[in-house]
Amino acid sequence: MQFILSFIYKLYDKGSIKRDTFLHKLHEKFFSSSFLVYIFFQVKISPDLSHKSNFRNLKHKFDLTTIILKITLKKFIKIDTSILEIGTGAFGILSIYFSKYTKKRIDSIDISTNNINSALINIKFNNAKINLFKSNIFENVISKYDVIFWNVPYYYPKKDYLYPLIDEVHNYLKEEGLLIIGYNSNPLKANEVINYTKNNNKIEYYKTVKFSWNHHLISLIRKK
Ligand SMILES: C[S@@+](CC[C@H](N)C(=O)[O-])C[C@H]1O[C@@H](n2cnc3c(N)ncnc32)[C@H](O)[C@@H]1O
Repeated sequence: MQFILSFIYKLYDKGSIKRDTFLHKLHEKFFSSSFLVYIFFQVKISPDLSHKSNFRNLKHKFDLTTIILKITLKKFIKIDTSILEIGTGAFGILSIYFSKYTKKRIDSIDISTNNINSALINIKFNNAKINLFKSNIFENVISKYDVIFWNVPYYYPKKDYLYPLIDEVHNYLKEEGLLIIGYNSNPLKANEVINYTKNNNKIEYYKTVKFSWNHHLISLIRKK
């Protein structure tokens, strides 16, 4: 099963270019559907935003990582969990979803002004209570959280997202707080996350969550 999946992914995943086969078009239709966003996340997409996307050069509103992050995060988010979502995207899907699971107001950030403006519209449209602001990772973050999560950008240089995240995350986690990142295992390997985490002695790699039906991964990192 894993072998077949790897083969399909190798054929299919060509980064953000050359996505013009029937399979790619079908994939794009699926992940850009506002109806499916509602089915998977019970989040409505404002009609003003239906043309927008969360992903560079793609029309996707969500992806497999968004789904597996939802499944994994549900095990760690309780009614009194304080949460920061990094990179909430143009729709704030995961923040809106988890705002129904915790009584604490979720903080959400994104580096993109366009995404912030658009997510604000969608947060209002869903009547969710989220504190959304612009920040390059932790640049404008001042609180500490039980859970910080990020569906990280897939094809960015690691020095622009992974390394600063791991270097600084302990300053923004409460004791035994968790950093939970989701990613496509083609551009980023779990071992790269494990090895880089060893550079920060205030945190420890806890575990990798895998799913038999896809190649995306979740890494959990805990504050010591
Ligand atoms: C893969 S998308 C995830 C979108 C959405 N959260 C989801 O799960 O579908 C990654 C997001 O990270 C944001 N991002 C990229 N670099 C960032 C940075 N340095 N600081 C904060 N957000 C960043 C992007 O603008 C984008 O919205």
